[in-house]
Amino acid sequence: MVVRYSDVSYYNPYVHTGSSHTFRSIRHLPISKLEGTRVILRADLNVPLENGVVTDDFRIKRVTQTIEYLRLHKAKVIIISHIGRDPQESLRPVYEYMKAHSSGLVFVPDMLGAAVTSVVDSMEEGDAILLENLRRYPGEEANDMSFAKSLASLADIYINDAFSAAHREHASIVTLPKLLPCYAGLLLEDEVTHLSVALNPPKPALCIIGGAKFDTKEPLIRRLLEAYGFVFIGGALANDVFKARGFPVGISKVGDRPPAADVLAHPGLIVPTDVIAAKPDKQSKRKLPRDVEDDETIADIGPDSIANLVPRIMEAKFILWNGPMGRYEDGFDVATEMLAEAVSQSSARTVVGGGDTIAAIKNKGLDKKFWFLSTGGGAMLEYLLQGTLPGIEALKQPHR
Ligand code: 3PG
Repeated sequence: MVVRYSDVSYYNPYVHTGSSHTFRSIRHLPISKLEGTRVILRADLNVPLENGVVTDDFRIKRVTQTIEYLRLHKAKVIIISHIGRDPQESLRPVYEYMKAHSSGLVFVPDMLGAAVTSVVDSMEEGDAILLENLRRYPGEEANDMSFAKSLASLADIYINDAFSAAHREHASIVTLPKLLPCYAGLLLEDEVTHLSVALNPPKPALCIIGGAKFDTKEPLIRRLLEAYGFVFIGGALANDVFKARGFPVGISKVGDRPPAADVLAHPGLIVPTDVIAAKPDKQSKRKLPRDVEDDETIADIGPDSIANLVPRIMEAKFILWNGPMGRYEDGFDVATEMLAEAVSQSSARTVVGGGDTIAAIKNKGLDKKFWFLSTGGGAMLEYLLQGTLPGIEALKQPHR
């Protein structure tokens, strides 16, 4: 089997120096221990599909470095992942995409049973197979021990490279590592190395948070106000602040309860100074927050909000950004892309996460100008709040 390690387009040689986490990465495993070893690799191949075709390969590219590292060192690689929320969704379209980049990759349309065991038994050194959507078995999301044991029986060691799913207490994330010698993959290690810096950033620092659900994100916003000093709120999150401060929000999306008084009163909480308000017929206009009309929704933030933020972006030594500034999915992407441009020009170390935010950066061809792009959306936010994730803790098993 031909392994084209040179095809791996993303490899970050950043050396892992973190002290707050004590899991071992595959870098710590002698290469000789991989030869002929059956490795079960938990990846997160939950990527967007349109009409059965992969539309964003960011996560695929990032995990490919681990897959090809293992194959190069003659492991037998059994890749497992979930896709989507509907258990009937299949990983086959992802396989069709991956096989163009991982030569000889084989798809096995199940996870357990005689057919899978027989394919695994016939694997040779350097082979890689992709099993079907883990969520087809209820035992995955139920974190069922016997399901985890069945998966464990396929392999000799376990590697977690699914940072973006490491906030889920599912069988393949938190129980499987208890049953086999376990390691972090290159992607997961890289995420923790960079995001651990984001927990206590060098100052001056700036955090930019977009998206929706202020009530859910409030503990994180409070934590980020402490750690960063300044938090700029965009997207639907800003609607809650506008409403609580007595501004009209028309028919915009708002949370179930108003933001807490201590967060609202924090001097480091920065909100947009202008917005793009859209009528039901989708006509939109830039205006001040106080001028939003009853039949309008706040669809994006305005250009002055970005311009006002630029001095802070330029003086920051560290910038963390997660979430779009407007209703990106409805085409209100102007402010998010303007912000991508502005942040890319800063000399700060910049860490970005969230599917739409990364899409904006890529659309503008700016991805190489950022210090770190995280594969995590919800997992990144959870990591920033807790300083760890269930899937990371599960890797801290006594070494066998
Ligand atoms: C994600 O895309 O955030 C991860 O793959 C987790 O997916 P989930 O939210 O369906 O658990």
